[in-house]
Amino acid sequence: MLVYCFIFLLLNSKVNGSSLQNETETIGKCDLLVGQLLSVLTSASDLQGEVNIDSFEKVSSKYTAVTECYGTLKSASAKRLKQLYNWRWEKHYFYAFKMVECFGKIINDQFSGNDSKCDYDITTNNLTKKRETLVSGKLCILSIAKEMCHSAAYSYLKIHYNLLSDTLSIKPENDNCESLHSELIREQCELVEAKIMNFSRKTDDESLSANNTISAESGHLCEVLQQCREDECNFINPEREFEICGVFPSNDTETSGNSTIIELYGALRSPIQVNSEVGTCASIVDEFAFIVSENTISSSPAYEYTLEICKNAVDCYNSLGNETAEEMAKSYLAICDRYQPTG
Ligand SMILES: *[C@@H]1O[C@H](CO)[C@@H](O)[C@H](O)[C@H]1NC(C)=O
Ligand SMILES: *[C@@H]1O[C@H](CO)[C@@H](O)[C@H](O)[C@H]1NC(C)=O
Ligand SMILES: *[C@@H]1O[C@H](CO)[C@@H](O)[C@H](O)[C@H]1NC(C)=O
Ligand SMILES: *[C@@H]1O[C@H](CO)[C@@H](O)[C@H](O)[C@H]1NC(C)=O
Ligand SMILES: *[C@@H]1O[C@H](CO)[C@@H](O)[C@H](O)[C@H]1NC(C)=O
Ligand SMILES: *[C@@H]1O[C@H](CO)[C@@H](O)[C@H](O)[C@H]1NC(C)=O
Ligand SMILES: *[C@@H]1O[C@H](CO)[C@@H](O)[C@H](O)[C@H]1NC(C)=O
Ligand SMILES: *[C@@H]1O[C@H](CO)[C@@H](O)[C@H](O)[C@H]1NC(C)=O
Repeated sequence: MLVYCFIFLLLNSKVNGSSLQNETETIGKCDLLVGQLLSVLTSASDLQGEVNIDSFEKVSSKYTAVTECYGTLKSASAKRLKQLYNWRWEKHYFYAFKMVECFGKIINDQFSGNDSKCDYDITTNNLTKKRETLVSGKLCILSIAKEMCHSAAYSYLKIHYNLLSDTLSIKPENDNCESLHSELIREQCELVEAKIMNFSRKTDDESLSANNTISAESGHLCEVLQQCREDECNFINPEREFEICGVFPSNDTETSGNSTIIELYGALRSPIQVNSEVGTCASIVDEFAFIVSENTISSSPAYEYTLEICKNAVDCYNSLGNETAEEMAKSYLAICDRYQPTG
C-alpha cells in the first residue's frame, strides 16, 4: 500500500511537472501565423537582399493574417506587434516594387544643381515643408519616375503617391527605426553622405583639400546631413563627412563598432513584453522577425547573427514542453537551416 502510494505520488508529480510546468509559459495566439509568415519570407527571397515581386501576393497575405490576428488581441504587446508587422509589410511592399532605386533617383535629382528636373527640395527635414513640396511637386516627381524608374516602381507611385507623401512627412512615434518613414529618411541621408564623400574626392583631386571646410556648393548637403544626425535612426559615419562640413560629432553619439543596420537598430529596439496572449517566445520571435525583415531588404544580410537568433527561437519553443510548441520548434529549425553556411 505504501509502495503504491509512493508510486502514485511520483506519477502525479511527474504529470504536474510536464503539463503544468509554468502557467505563464504559453504559445502565443498568433505564433503559428507568424511562423508561416517567416517561413514564406525566408523562402521567397533568395536571402540575398532581393525582394521577389512574384511571391509578393503570398507574402502579403501572410502579413495580413498576422496583423489581423494581433488586431484581435487586447494587450499592449499585441498592439505593438501588430504595428511592427504592419511597418515590415509596408517596407516589403516598397521594396518588392523596386521603389528603393526609384526613390534614390528622385532624391538624386534634388542635388543635380542646374540639371535638376524638378525645382524643389523634398530633402528638407522640416516635415511640414517636405509635405508641401511633395504635394506641389507631384506631377514632376511622377515624370521622373516614368522616365527613370522600373515600370513596377512607376505603377506603385501612380497608385500610392499620396501614401508615400504621408509616409515621408509623418514620423511615427516609437517606431524603433522600423517604419518605412525611418527607412526612407535613412536612404536619403546615406545618399547625401555619399554625395559629400564624392565631393571630397573631387576637391582632393583639385588640391583644394588644404582647407577641409567647404561651404558654397556642398553647403546644402552639409545642412541636410546635419539634420540627418539629429535622428538616431540615421546611420551616419561621424568622421569624414563632418570634417568636410566643418562640424564635429558630439562624443556621446558615437556608434562606432556597430557597422550594420541590424546592429544599430537592434541596439535601439525595446523588447516585446511577454504575456499569455503573445506567448512566452514573443520577444525572441520578434527579434528574429525584425532581422529577417531587414535581411530581406538590406544588401548585407547578417547570416551568422540571424542563425543565432533563429536557434534561440527553436530553443524557446522546445523549452515549453508542449506538443504544439514542439511542432513550432521544428518549423523554426527548418527556417534556421536556410541560414546554415553549408545549406
Ligand atoms: C515561470 O514564469 C515566471 C514568469 O515568467 C518565471 O519568473 C519563472 O522563472 C518561471 N518558472 C519556471 C519553472 O520556468
Ligand atoms: C499546448 O499549448 C497550447 C496553447 O498554449 C494549448 O492550446 C494546447 O492544448 C497545448 N497542447 C498540449 C498537447 O498540451
Ligand atoms: C547654374 O545656373 C546659374 C544661372 O543660370 C549659373 O549662374 C550657374 O553658373 C550655373 N551653375 C552651374 C554649376 O552650371
Ligand atoms: C517648416 O516649414 C513650414 C512651411 O514651409 C514653415 O511655416 C515653418 O516655419 C517651418 N518650421 C521650421 C521649424 O523651420
Ligand atoms: C560618386 O561618383 C561616382 C563616380 O563619379 C558616381 O558613379 C556615383 O554615382 C557618385 N555617387 C553619388 C551618390 O553621387
Ligand atoms: C579655409 O577657409 C576659410 C573660410 O573660407 C578661410 O578663412 C581660411 O583662410 C581657409 N584656410 C586655408 C588654410 O586655406
Ligand atoms: C570629444 O572628445 C575629445 C577627446 O576626448 C575632446 O577633446 C572634445 O572636446 C570632445 N568633444 C565634445 C563635443 O565633447
Ligand atoms: C552594438 O550592437 C549590439 C547588439 O548587436 C549592442 O548590444 C551594443 O550596445 C551596440 N553598441 C553600440 C555602441 O551601439
